[in-house]
Amino acid sequence: MSHPLEELRASAMTDIAAAADEQALEAVRVRYLGRNGSISAWSDEMRTMSKEERPIVGKLLNEARNAVTAALAESAERLRASKEAVALSNIDVSLPATPVEFGGLHPLTQMLDRAIAIFRRMGFALAEGPDVETEWYCFDALNTAPDHPARNEQDTFYLPDGRLLRTHTSTVQIRTMQSAPPPIRVIAPGSAYRRDEVDATHSAQFHQIEGLYVDDDVSVADLKGALEFFLRELFGSDTEIRFRPHYFPFTEPSFEIDVKSKALKSGEKWLEVAGCGMVHPAVFEEVNRARGDDAYDPEKYSGFAFGLGMDRLAMILFDIPDIRLFAQNDLRFLRQFA
Ligand code: DAH
Repeated sequence: MSHPLEELRASAMTDIAAAADEQALEAVRVRYLGRNGSISAWSDEMRTMSKEERPIVGKLLNEARNAVTAALAESAERLRASKEAVALSNIDVSLPATPVEFGGLHPLTQMLDRAIAIFRRMGFALAEGPDVETEWYCFDALNTAPDHPARNEQDTFYLPDGRLLRTHTSTVQIRTMQSAPPPIRVIAPGSAYRRDEVDATHSAQFHQIEGLYVDDDVSVADLKGALEFFLRELFGSDTEIRFRPHYFPFTEPSFEIDVKSKALKSGEKWLEVAGCGMVHPAVFEEVNRARGDDAYDPEKYSGFAFGLGMDRLAMILFDIPDIRLFAQNDLRFLRQFA
């Protein structure tokens, strides 16, 4: 004759097989394995048994518990699967699908992606810096005189603690050189802020890509080559490019770059797209002072730097008439680029 535990186990199996849904299955579990379940009861019973009997019953009890637990899990999974199969069989595959709405990238993001892709091919790595900066990063380290108009409160957003919203991404030049010795070849895309009167071509927040290349033999020819390559990749190979002498405190010599292309809506007009130049020795010297070494020895190293206006490039490339459109979140505008 079989042990009562084996009989319990067999009847649990029969009940599990008969349980038609999750509730019925749970009731079976409680009946056998719950705190007052009939299999569980044998745990208490064992305490009254003799030393000889205990291991035999203990083994039977374990086996019964494991087998019933496994059968419960298997049955639960079977019930779940069949419920799902029923649910699926009720789906009418001939019904029209819910339309999937595809988003699109903002035109400035598209512009940025294109620009970054071109510079990457020239070996430029990405660098970044914070939007909230100190005067030192924004002006002093960039050889900007204490009375330079850009520092004026009318041109710059100052925070109460004296810090400011960077007026250009040139700050990242300094941060990059502080953190690593030459050679350096980086671009730094990001926002810049000025207290400009907002109109079709001015915005209090705009976007730039800063570039910096420092090595032991960098010349104006390298600067011209790199930026001409970039602009022709962007605007087309027959784009005309003009370097005009200009002044920036942090470069010497300095230039502004204009482009002209028949392929563009602007046609015969020269359009200013960038500022650039050869890194001023005073910038290297201030970086060395901050680093406490001579890593950027102006006798040994030279470099070029440039700043490109992303909003402006996007406006030229996509023929966008008003910079304010970028921030107005008007779907009629944005959908044209999706
Ligand atoms: N920071 C300048 C601006 O915002 C642009 C610029 C000019 C950046 C010359 C440069 C540079 O790195 O060499 O107008």
